[in-house]
Amino acid sequence: MKPEFAVGRHLSIQLFWTLVIVCLQWTVSISARQVAKHNLSSYECHDDYYNIPYCRDHPDGYGCVCGPGFYWNTYKCISMAIDSRFEFKATGPTRYTLLLDKTFPTLSGFTIAFWINVSDASNSGTILSYKCGGRANILRMMSGPYLKFSINLEEKETDFRVQPFQWHHLALTWTNSSLDENNWHLYVNGSRIRSGKLAYGYTIPMGGEFVLGQSWGQTNDTFDQRYPLDADLVHLNIWDYPMRTEEVRYLHSSCTFMYCGNAVQWVEFRSGTRGAMRMRWPSGVFSDVMDGKCVSEAESSDSCDTFCSEYKGAQCNEEIKENILWSRQKADQNISVLCPTFEDMTDNSTALRYAQRSCQAN
Ligand SMILES: *[C@@H]1O[C@H](CO)[C@@H](O)[C@H](O)[C@H]1NC(C)=O
Ligand SMILES: *[C@@H]1O[C@H](CO)[C@@H](O)[C@H](O)[C@H]1NC(C)=O
Ligand SMILES: *[C@@H]1O[C@H](CO)[C@@H](O)[C@H](O)[C@H]1NC(C)=O
Ligand SMILES: *[C@@H]1O[C@H](CO)[C@@H](O)[C@H](O)[C@H]1NC(C)=O
Ligand SMILES: *[C@@H]1O[C@H](CO)[C@@H](O)[C@H](O)[C@H]1NC(C)=O
Ligand SMILES: *[C@@H]1O[C@H](CO)[C@@H](O)[C@H](O)[C@H]1NC(C)=O
Ligand SMILES: *[C@@H]1O[C@H](CO)[C@@H](O)[C@H](O)[C@H]1NC(C)=O
Repeated sequence: MKPEFAVGRHLSIQLFWTLVIVCLQWTVSISARQVAKHNLSSYECHDDYYNIPYCRDHPDGYGCVCGPGFYWNTYKCISMAIDSRFEFKATGPTRYTLLLDKTFPTLSGFTIAFWINVSDASNSGTILSYKCGGRANILRMMSGPYLKFSINLEEKETDFRVQPFQWHHLALTWTNSSLDENNWHLYVNGSRIRSGKLAYGYTIPMGGEFVLGQSWGQTNDTFDQRYPLDADLVHLNIWDYPMRTEEVRYLHSSCTFMYCGNAVQWVEFRSGTRGAMRMRWPSGVFSDVMDGKCVSEAESSDSCDTFCSEYKGAQCNEEIKENILWSRQKADQNISVLCPTFEDMTDNSTALRYAQRSCQAN
């Protein structure tokens, strides 16, 4: 939980003030809120994990409050659960994360995207493994020594090495259609680096057991102990279609964690963690990788306050001018106060006895 943000900093205000007329000019930047407007319909996450902030009314503006477990991502308040990471460290005892909150769907194509930071690049760590109807690893991805994956037990070992102790954004797209010359593509940090052909015509069946961090054993219901993942994993999502390059690039550059898989979402793994593994938040991807690309914490606070001001409407802040305390008021209203020095005067002309502030939003 972040403390309440500083208030009113983002507002560029010019105040023209006389005894009779006070004029407020209102300008506000809305650029921060436009960041996330990219085809949101295709990336919807569970509503439960997003909030509209509470806008606390202060004399000098609105302060933005996301509440416990949530923080402002420049668009909405998001749950820490979304910006979380799984740490698969110890190789024993067995630890893994099962997909429990959702039935794995039928897939005739997919995009699997996630952030990973491996500790031992030579280790054949299992990122994900899927088993259905007694067939183990009909879908699997391994982190090393070269990134490899298999679909319907057809395996492809790429020549790409995941560098240790760095965050990589990986995305694998696949379709069962033979219309395209290449039916799978691998993206690293938003760029397509490898493509090829695999498992034409195959459909991944629904209802099996999907696991992160361990491989299913071939023979029985246990894991193959040779391939535990040694890495941190963040925001793994699965979509039921192969994304185009621009979409993957957008996914990689997004700073908001607003884009969730329509087949499987990261938060749906939350209840399935088992054994000696940890879930931590925030994930660290925002601060470690996107630093410089995403907004800083200060900019984020400002944009949250700005959001509140937009949401609540323009206002003139409370202030003392000419020994008069002007209370805060909504824009496009006038306020009149009795001028202190004129209280005893015999001249009862209204124009002199009262000061008026006019607050105008332009
Ligand atoms: C936006 O998402 C919808 C729903 O998935 C999809 O049908 C549509 O093609 C997408 N539009 C763009 C421009 O990507
Ligand atoms: C990757 O993980 C290692 C080990 O947990 C950690 O020391 C390192 O800081 C991480 N790298 C980044 C870029 O966060
Ligand atoms: C991907 O991006 C991360 C963080 O910016 C960087 O450390 C890593 O080297 C990049 N990897 C590739 C293959 O571009
Ligand atoms: C891909 O999967 C779909 C759904 O199962 C199936 O209808 C279609 O025939 C498959 N495509 C090919 C080329 O086999
Ligand atoms: C499961 O398979 C492992 C290795 O293949 C074997 O050691 C173990 O005895 C099997 N367990 C059962 C219950 O069959
Ligand atoms: C407020 O005061 C200004 C200047 O005296 C006047 O032009 C305007 O009509 C007033 N607005 C309202 C809402 O009374
Ligand atoms: C001015 O107004 C006050 C109160 O409204 C009143 O008591 C006073 O008699 C008035 N003075 C004159 C000169 O009209």
